[in-house]
Amino acid sequence: MAITEILPGIHYVGVNDRTTTRFEALWSLPIGVSYNAYLVVGEKIALIDTVEEAFGSRLEANIREAIGERKIDYLVVNHMEPDHSSSITALRRLYPDLEIVGNAKTLQMIDGFYGIAGGTVEVKEGDTLDLGSRKVLSFHMIPMVHWPETMVTWCAGDKTLFSGDAFGTFGALDGGITDSQVEADRYWDEMRRYYACIVGKYGGPVQKALQKVRTLPVETICPTHGPVWQREIPRVMDIYDKLSRYEGEPGVVVAYASMYGNTEQMAERVARELAAEGVGPVRVYNLSYADPSVVLRDVFRFDTLIVGGPTYNGNLFPPVAELLDRLAARCIPQRKFGWFGSFCWAGASVRLLGEFAQKMKWEPLCDPVEMKQGFSSDACGLCRTLAGRIAERRRSE
Ligand code: FEO
Repeated sequence: MAITEILPGIHYVGVNDRTTTRFEALWSLPIGVSYNAYLVVGEKIALIDTVEEAFGSRLEANIREAIGERKIDYLVVNHMEPDHSSSITALRRLYPDLEIVGNAKTLQMIDGFYGIAGGTVEVKEGDTLDLGSRKVLSFHMIPMVHWPETMVTWCAGDKTLFSGDAFGTFGALDGGITDSQVEADRYWDEMRRYYACIVGKYGGPVQKALQKVRTLPVETICPTHGPVWQREIPRVMDIYDKLSRYEGEPGVVVAYASMYGNTEQMAERVARELAAEGVGPVRVYNLSYADPSVVLRDVFRFDTLIVGGPTYNGNLFPPVAELLDRLAARCIPQRKFGWFGSFCWAGASVRLLGEFAQKMKWEPLCDPVEMKQGFSSDACGLCRTLAGRIAERRRSE
């Protein structure tokens, strides 16, 4: 059996992308990304999702390698974001009799994106599609994971879930396809980063999807990005569960920006004192240089966030404001929050960081630290106090 035949009659026909530098034109891809598509072969054949259109010819070659000149009867569209749907038009040219299977929202989007209105089959929650040879697909809606039309496809006979973006991760597939064929540990941080950047706003819908998935005796999860999960399903579910509950694990992110290094010294001092107090892990990011997706990943991962920045034009320094915008957009309901800032002649950053914490209803760990002009022994002492209070709070929990 070819390595691409994950289970008898279920073929991986996806592709790796190691050239795109920004996913959604936003998020870095240091180890690439895969766009996964799958063939389910019974007496009839269904393709589940497609790939980004620049890789359409590879999808076609992979399909031919798996099924030769046989025709595809159905294209099941679990998710319409163009990284999975933009090969639909080309695929339809190749297989003109193909019927497109999707829910009402999907079919509206197919018309809207690609002008395709006919040759479709509308499905609702729990509907089934019998391909013959014991390959029966059923469809289950998981709206907002990650768009409103998203659904999963369940193949009960193989205990296999085609999960769309759910349980996906950044990271191309290095040779293998299933989690026992690749180095699974390479993907955990990429999964958190993917979750934080792409799905992070939708914790509630992810929880609902998890509840639905838990009712199924799943043995194989085929997501649209990253490895096929078999051995590591409990760990994958646990990561998605924790992230979608916004439950940070113990740890501190110190995220700061600094124009001339004075605020940076505050950040360094806070981090050093936290380490000296035995609080950890501590991860420090200079927001003017750090990859925003990595900062977001760690804010999702850890329970404590300390933000610092100078006052700039009577406002927050832009890299700090950008972080706060990203956090607010993801509606993170709780984080233990500390903050510090600086100014030259009229302070604003500390006040504005405090207002942000109030808006987010985040728990302040202690009073903030505000520094006027250069980093001094007084400022150093205040930072030490801030770190000490955070450490006390951590010890008392
Ligand atoms: Fe991978 Fe929401 O698309």
